[in-house]
Amino acid sequence: GLKKKEVHVLCIGLDNSGKTTIINKLKPSNAQTQDIVPTIGFSIEKFKTSSLSFTVFDMSGQGRYRNLWEHYYKEGQAIIFVIDSSDKLRMVVAKEELDTLLNHPDIKHRRLPILFFANKMDLRDAISSVKVSQLLSLENIKDKPWHICASDALKGEGLQEGVDWLQDQIT
Ligand code: GTP
Ligand code: MG
Repeated sequence: GLKKKEVHVLCIGLDNSGKTTIINKLKPSNAQTQDIVPTIGFSIEKFKTSSLSFTVFDMSGQGRYRNLWEHYYKEGQAIIFVIDSSDKLRMVVAKEELDTLLNHPDIKHRRLPILFFANKMDLRDAISSVKVSQLLSLENIKDKPWHICASDALKGEGLQEGVDWLQDQIT
């Protein structure tokens, strides 16, 4: 068949937000793993959509590994930023990491699409995606296309909407 366009995407966000679970769910079912463990450093994953072939750098969100993120900014053509919507205590930490990302010289002046997943929507104490976007001040992002989706990565809900948006931004 026709060769799909290759896209490099960086998946970031705090530890335990669900990055690896989301990326795993986007793969064909026979390629999905059953037990997901905290990512050490990063892991390179691949999945395809109707018109694109994605290579994802699934970064660890643990504090001691977050300094690795910036080394991959240059080659990233899009960003997936995952938030645990039930982790109200660390929402301010997620905002700090987002602000650091947006001010980085390799990101700041690029029109890079950013897809946000307000993940773990299934949990009772999760806040809405509208509330997440307010707490992260997403309305202040004016020079980049961005989109936020509520998701439940365990059931796979909300993921397709996000990836469809990303594909539209890139093709
Ligand atoms: P690091 O690799 O440490 O940065 O974490 P991560 O962001 O990759 O998180 P990971 O995918 O490992 O998921 C962390 C935990 O959250 C796991 O126990 C997942 O099963 C759980 N989890 C992920 N997504 C969801 C979700 O939508 N809802 C619920 N309830 N749990 C989720
Ligand atoms: Mg992970």
